[in-house]
Parts: sequence; C-alpha cells; structure tokens
Amino acid sequence: MSRGMLEGSTAIVTGGNTGIGRAIALAFAREGAKLVIASRHETHREGLMPTHLVIQSSGGEAIFVPTDVSKAADVEALFSTTLERFGRLDVLVNNAGIVALGSVGDTSLEDWNRVMAVDLAAVFLVSKLAVEQMLRQGTGGNIINIASEDGYVYPVPGAVAYSVAKAGVIFLTRQMALDYGGKDIRVNVVCPGATDTPMTRYDTVGNVEAIVKAAATMGRIGQPEEIAEAVLFLASERASYITGHNLNVDGGWACL
Ligand SMILES: NC(=O)c1ccc[n+]([C@@H]2O[C@H](COP(=O)([O-])OP(=O)(O)OC[C@H]3O[C@@H](n4cnc5c(N)ncnc54)[C@H](O)[C@@H]3O)[C@@H](O)[C@H]2O)c1
Repeated sequence: MSRGMLEGSTAIVTGGNTGIGRAIALAFAREGAKLVIASRHETHREGLMPTHLVIQSSGGEAIFVPTDVSKAADVEALFSTTLERFGRLDVLVNNAGIVALGSVGDTSLEDWNRVMAVDLAAVFLVSKLAVEQMLRQGTGGNIINIASEDGYVYPVPGAVAYSVAKAGVIFLTRQMALDYGGKDIRVNVVCPGATDTPMTRYDTVGNVEAIVKAAATMGRIGQPEEIAEAVLFLASERASYITGHNLNVDGGWACL
C-alpha cells in the first residue's frame, strides 16, 4: 500500500472549519497528516459536522483548538496545545481570513484595522511561532499562506483593506522564503480566485457577480477542494524544490 503524501506530519490549518480551510484539512488527513484545526468557532457556519470530528470519524487524528489568530495569547495557546498533543509541527497553513467591503472613502479605520489584524498581522504572528518551532526541531518545515487574486492581479473594486492585506501576504511569503530557505523551511502562497465558500455566499454579497465575472476565463467559480489539492502539493515532498512561489488557483483569472 502506498504511503500518504503527508504521512507522519503534523499540520495546523487556521480557519479550518469551513470553506477552503476545511477542504485543506480533509485533504491533508486523507494523506496521513495529524491535524490541528485552529478557528474561532468549533461549530460550522452552515451546521456541518466540525472538521476534526469528521477526520476522527474516518480514523484520522485531529483536534480543535479555539483560536482567534489575531490574539497573541490564543496563538501561544495554539502552539502549546499542538506540541503537548503531537510533539511537533511540520506544516502550517495560514488560511483564516475575513473580508470587509468598501473603497478608501467608505472604509472605517476600525474595519481597516480589523482586516489587517486577521488577514495580514496574524499571518506574521502564527508564522513567527511556527518558524521558531521548526528551527528548534531542526527538521525543516512548510508554510503555505492563502492570499487571493484580489491582492495580486486584479483587486476587486470596493474591497480595499482585503486587497491590500492579501498583497502584503504575497510579499511576506517571498520575504520568509528568502530568510528561511537555507533552513529547509519552504514558504509558498496560493492565490485562489472566486471559490464557492461561506465567504462568497454571505460576506461578499453584491461583489460576487464582479468576482465571478473576473474569473470568467474558465467561466465558473472554483470549489474548495480544487484549492486544497494545490495546497497539498506545495505541502508535500513533491514540491521539495519550490519556495517563494505564488500558485494561482483561479480558473485563469490571472490571464485576464
Ligand atoms: N472564497 C473565495 O472566493 C476566496 C478567494 C480568494 C481567497 N480566499 C481566502 O481563502 C481563505 C478561506 O476563506 P473561505 O473562502 O474558505 O471563507 P470562510 O469564511 O468559509 O473561511 C474563513 C475561515 O476563517 C476563520 N476565521 C476568520 N477570522 C478568524 C480569526 N480571527 N481567527 C481564527 N479564524 C478565523 C473563519 O471562522 C472561517 O472558518 C481566506 O483567507 C480568504 O480570504 C477566499
């Protein structure tokens, strides 16, 4: 029987209870990883069974750690719980994210700061603890950040804080790849296009049409599982010489 692509690895997926994060966690578990789901809520927004219970029910290992990634104390608790339970960290996926709609004129400073805290500063914070742990282990590691095409090729009109935060995540990825490449810690970023998740269903109301139009090269919205397969590849040994890369999984949005 062939080994799973992530057999023996421990992975943290932030925001792993819904949408893209849930699909990533399930794909990782299928490939043999032990999962730590770090999210604010244990319950799913649409009432589905929490991800860690789905994994446990199919014989995998997974825990849920209540975490607000923008709070330092929560992130520290996330790492101590992960290490108590699994003793190591091999893969981090910075997936948690929020969106706020508005151009500069109609975005409040409070909304700007809230989006920056979750979508950018938290990626720095969680990565910082991950890198420290990976360096202590001395076995290398893997970080995959989830940005967005909004922060790369084509900002969606009226989502200024989100687009700028995601652009920051892309650059943070390159900087980390450069700083830690020599320590065998690979850092890559995936930019999804419009993807069918609770975020597009409930939080970007009014913008979904613009998003889907922007993703018209393939003429359809993406599924979370299609993003997850790209993240799985980057997390695996199959991508052993890839770091600092931005992988667009966007149905061709970047071609427009
Ligand atoms: N859906 C899309 O079209 C799309 C496109 C490009 C990028 N993305 C990015 O993909 C990622 C996943 O989004 P999604 O579409 O699955 O949406 P989603 O709303 O289903 O998932 C976001 C997750 O992040 C969690 N989260 C939010 N704030 C948090 C916090 N402070 N601490 C911990 N967890 C927090 C939420 O609870 C949720 O589980 C996000 O970073 C998003 O920006 C989504």
